[in-house]
Parts: sequence; structure tokens; C-alpha cells
Amino acid sequence: MTGAMNNRARLAKELEAFPVRWKPGQRMSELTSLAVGGPADVVVIEDPQCLPDVVHFFRSKGIPWRLLGGGSNLLVRDEGLRSIALQLAPERNGVLFDGPRVEISAAASLGTAVTRCAKNNLGGIAGLVGVPGTVGGALHMNAGAYGTQIGEFVKAVKVFRGSTGEIEVLKPEGIRFEYRQTSFAADDIMLSVTLELIERPYERIVERIKQCNQKRRASQPISEKSAGCIFKNPPGYSTGKMIDDLGMKGMRMGGAMISDRHANFIVNRQGATASDIFRLMDVMRERVGKSFGVELEEEVIVWRESP
Ligand code: EPU
Repeated sequence: MTGAMNNRARLAKELEAFPVRWKPGQRMSELTSLAVGGPADVVVIEDPQCLPDVVHFFRSKGIPWRLLGGGSNLLVRDEGLRSIALQLAPERNGVLFDGPRVEISAAASLGTAVTRCAKNNLGGIAGLVGVPGTVGGALHMNAGAYGTQIGEFVKAVKVFRGSTGEIEVLKPEGIRFEYRQTSFAADDIMLSVTLELIERPYERIVERIKQCNQKRRASQPISEKSAGCIFKNPPGYSTGKMIDDLGMKGMRMGGAMISDRHANFIVNRQGATASDIFRLMDVMRERVGKSFGVELEEEVIVWRESP
């Protein structure tokens, strides 16, 4: 047995003390919607209450970790991950209603949460229905679509602070929500969020959900493997339109292609690698910079660490 294998076997044994599932050598290509990325050791936390203990354990051993959400806005290198990928198991009863307020666990799927709220006559967030991923991931980057950003509805966030190892409940005044970014740190782990929504009849909310779904189907490659928009829209510009105007739709690098439906999406057409995607992103960045004089900023979260 090699030293690395010995270490991992020891780690697996030590983790038996916690309510977690140890899943060594998982291919990130199977855990991300872009379907690229090499191996990572994943630890699924079954009980969020034990999160502080698990993080403390990794800290005490000097083992780096990262939080893996739904993997729908994530690009991982082909070499994989040296850090442990921590994942919160979804809670069965992850949505709790109290009048116009709803507390949702961070590991819940955002789309499912939106429809469960609709069934309880709570609307306002219908625009978010087609945004893939978890509620925690959406919160971390203030996900938005069709004029709605999740941050606008936040009344409280229960968060595990990676920096202090403490759980805190933050009020909206203590959080900065901006376009696709927030004041949360990379090692803050969302546990749950309380939203205050708008009381509306179910039928009206469903009508809005249908409209948004239709728009999304018409303009985005929703049935293909992607991470949504790859770059943010610089103020006053649409990145998709700029790349489209440059005639770059359909451009390929290996198995990756700029979507022919929406030019700010890279789709994994045929066994793309992360490096195909990085190469395509470089060309997009360079050509947009040269022609429009704007610097594109990544919207997709990139785990760049070397193994
Ligand atoms: N356009 C083109 N060609 C393209 C793409 C877009 O000409 O290939 C034009 C459209 O015709 C439209 C304009 O550009 O006039 C804006 O396009 P769209 O309405 O699709 O919106 P977007 O700015 O490209 C943003 C978000 C999406 C979100 C939609 C709907 C960003 C980077 N993108 O896209 O979010 O779903 O609005 O609200 O903010 C994501 O976050 O991953 C994402 C996809």
C-alpha cells in the first residue's frame, strides 16, 4: 500500500466517529453539471449539527476542504482536487412555513423550494425556478434570473463561519448582496435561510413560473451539460450578445463548444475536458477584450487548486 493510500485508509477510519459518508476518489465530472473535472475525496455530512466538529477535525489535521453544493455552477480542473469536498446531505423536511416567511435548508434544491413555496401561495421568487443548484449555493452568490435575485427576500441566514468555527444567524443588514456576489467568505457554509415572500394565489405564481420556463427554454441550452452563464455581464453590456456579435457561437475546443443557443454558455458536447473549457474561456475573454474593451469576469466558480 502506498503512503497516500495508508493516509486515506486512516482518515476513513477516523471519520467513522462522525455521522458522515466517506466517498473517496469521486469523479467531479459526475458531480458537476458541466461534467468535467478529475477525482476528489468527498465527505457527505448527514447531520448538519456535526458540521463544526467535522471542520474542526479537518483543521486539526491540516487537511484543506471546500464545500460542494449542487455542482451546477462549478468548474473543476482535470487534475481533480487535493482538498476534501464536503457536501451537506439534503434534509427531508428542508422547508418550514410561517406566514409569509419560509425557512429553507441550504442543501435543498432551489427549484424544488420555489415550487413548494408556490404550493403554499408564496411567490416573488418564481423567476428563480429554473436556476439549478442548491439554495445555499444560490445564496452564496446571490443567484438571479428574470429580474429576481434571491438576496432581496432574505430575512435571516444561518451560517457556519469557516473563519471562526461558529454558527451565526445573520440579519440582512449584516450581508451585502450584489449582482452575482455577496459578502460571504468562501469558507462560510450556509445552513439555512429565512425568506419573506409575497402572498399570492398559486395559479398566479404558476403562470409566472410557466412564463419564465418558456423564456429560458427559448434562449438557453437547458438540456445540455453546462454551468449556466460562464461570465458575468459587465455593467451596461450583455456578454452573450457580445460573443454572439463576434460570430463565436458554435466555436469548439475539443469536446467543449460555445452554445449555438446562448453565446455566454459553454456546453460539454462530447467528452470535454476542463482544459478544453479553459481554452475556450481564454479565447472568449481575449476576443471580447480586444473588440469591446471590456474585461470579462467569471460567473462560474472555478476550483483552480493543483492536486
Ligand atoms: N443575446 C444575444 N445572443 C446570445 C445571447 C443573448 O443576442 O447568444 C441578447 C438577447 O437577445 C438579449 C440580451 O442579449 O437581448 C440579453 O440576453 P438574455 O436575456 O438571455 O440575458 P443574459 O443577460 O444573457 C442573464 C443572466 C442569466 C439569466 C438571464 C435571464 C448573467 C450573466 N446572465 O442572461 O443567468 O438566466 O439573464 O434573467 O447575468 C446564470 O446566472 O448562469 C445565467 C444564465
